Amino acid sequence: MQPYQEEYLANLRQFAALSSGLPPEELPPEAFLAGAAQRQAQVTRLVRRNIELLRSGLFPTLDHLFSAGAEELEELRTFSFQLYDGRTELDVGLFCHIRQALLSLARQKRDRPAMIRELYWLGMGRNALCSKLVGFELPDVERYMTRMRLCFTEAAAYLKYYDEIEDTETRGYILRAKANISLGQFKSPSEKIRLVKDTLQVLQDRDYQKKAPGLPWDRFIYLTHQNMASSISYSKEKVMTAQDMADIMESAYIVYQRRFQEAERLHKQPPAKSAFAYHAIEYYCGLYGLDTLLSKLEGLLDGGSAGDYSTDGMYVMISLPAFYSQYLQQYPELIPPRREYLEQLYRRILDYVDACPRQAEDGQLFLYLRQLSFTFVETGGVSYGEFLQKLLLRFAPELYLHSRAVGEGARALCRLILEDDPGFFDDAGFLQAIQDPAEKRREVLDYALGCGLFHDVGKLSVIELYSRTARQWFREESEMARLHVIAGETLLSQRPSTRRYAPAALGHHAWYDGSRGYPDAYRRLECPCRQMVDVVALVDWLESTSSSTQIYNGEALTYEEAVQSAVQLEGRRFSPLLTARLRDAGTARLLRRAMEEGRRAALLQTRGPADPPAPALP
Ligand SMILES: [Fe+2]
Ligand SMILES: [Fe+2]
Repeated sequence: MQPYQEEYLANLRQFAALSSGLPPEELPPEAFLAGAAQRQAQVTRLVRRNIELLRSGLFPTLDHLFSAGAEELEELRTFSFQLYDGRTELDVGLFCHIRQALLSLARQKRDRPAMIRELYWLGMGRNALCSKLVGFELPDVERYMTRMRLCFTEAAAYLKYYDEIEDTETRGYILRAKANISLGQFKSPSEKIRLVKDTLQVLQDRDYQKKAPGLPWDRFIYLTHQNMASSISYSKEKVMTAQDMADIMESAYIVYQRRFQEAERLHKQPPAKSAFAYHAIEYYCGLYGLDTLLSKLEGLLDGGSAGDYSTDGMYVMISLPAFYSQYLQQYPELIPPRREYLEQLYRRILDYVDACPRQAEDGQLFLYLRQLSFTFVETGGVSYGEFLQKLLLRFAPELYLHSRAVGEGARALCRLILEDDPGFFDDAGFLQAIQDPAEKRREVLDYALGCGLFHDVGKLSVIELYSRTARQWFREESEMARLHVIAGETLLSQRPSTRRYAPAALGHHAWYDGSRGYPDAYRRLECPCRQMVDVVALVDWLESTSSSTQIYNGEALTYEEAVQSAVQLEGRRFSPLLTARLRDAGTARLLRRAMEEGRRAALLQTRGPADPPAPALP
């Protein structure tokens, strides 16, 4: 590999080590803060250096790929497999960028085996990116699924030239691509079932097998059955054709029965994951009703053990409750008799997460908790806001720091505004209704803090973009990052305790005059609490442009520069009522101090449960 490639990879490894940990918790506060600042500075240095390496090393190579020699191309491929190899992921975004360039080259050269190979790998990379988009409705992420699927579909189309293509490797890519068309989300299970069935037919065809005896056919077939069986762990669609049911049952039998028999032979419980998937299939195929499925699920849940931090243990403690909640979310009439059970389940989860040793969190725990964040049913016991705060604090500390800073900044700005104009936020009906001035003031300030704390909570759904990228984003990644406003609005608006923060999540990147920004779904003049959304938008922008995380967008400013730019954007990006205040140097300073103190307090909170608790939210 080239020296720039080696250095880039070494930086990525160092970045992962730095960003996965905070300084030792037992350090006294000042030393802890200094340690964290030092880590942050190192992270920023690494990211800057990586951007430089790509600009001086990789991008010129990609620009002249057609004239690159065989050795250079081989080095590029080796480098890309270090970034992602189908299992371990260091930088999938960059992997896709390189494979896209290699695909264009193969097309230019009309090199068919190379095209098929590159299509397959680009599809794999895109699938890895798609699998990071947790909890979205299909229409929000469909374009990414389609982009991924197109790669596999095009590669699989070469099946009609199977006889002409002599080498086994390329034949293997075609068949793998064929199987992978059914990855990702679909509008309905039937659509997926049809594709998987089609693949099974090809894979079981003796003719194809005979022509490429070197391929691992049994494994291909088993994995495809697994894909079929896993297609309906949860689905909104309950009605399936008799043929769909028969197909799924056959695969389920092949995949799970084997595991159950094995467990029986060893006198062990079958893995909960298989047991649940099997029960879910029985339910969807109409063997029994939802009540029975839920009690079977309860049986599995009761087998969970608080001290078991293995992947299976985490599955039972967190992922199963997420599925359980999802059924209840869809059929709320089933909630009342299960309310107490559900509360006890959620409390058990919070205790489990608190007690989980930090080293054991391998991403799996966080992934399961994110699933639960989308299906959480709030019944009045464990508050959803509390649950989200715990998630941010424990698994996305940098995001929590930013959110708390924005919350404190928003609170400070609101305090100033209220001094001159106590009715400023009366556009929000629930604030206008408060008669007592002191109470109203308190409510506005709490509201400002909550809006700040939760405005970016949707980033949990695309967190890898923020926590695992050690360079500037590519265009597609910036686009994906924008989904966080939709995800945030969805999470917050669906539960009573967080509903009122949803407009801040949706609208904080929209422009005041509506001329730019995102998403289109936010219309300022239709928003009943637009004054507060305006506050969060301004404070968020000041905080994020002047903190190092902005490096992904490539536009880091000093705080003074950020204030100046905000004032210049008066009436276009930001509310003139707010920028008028920012013109006052004293106000700008006060705001900065509030944000810094917010960051500092949040950082100390990350040291663990022994520290002061997160601010209580109404
Ligand atoms: Fe944001
Ligand atoms: Fe933000």
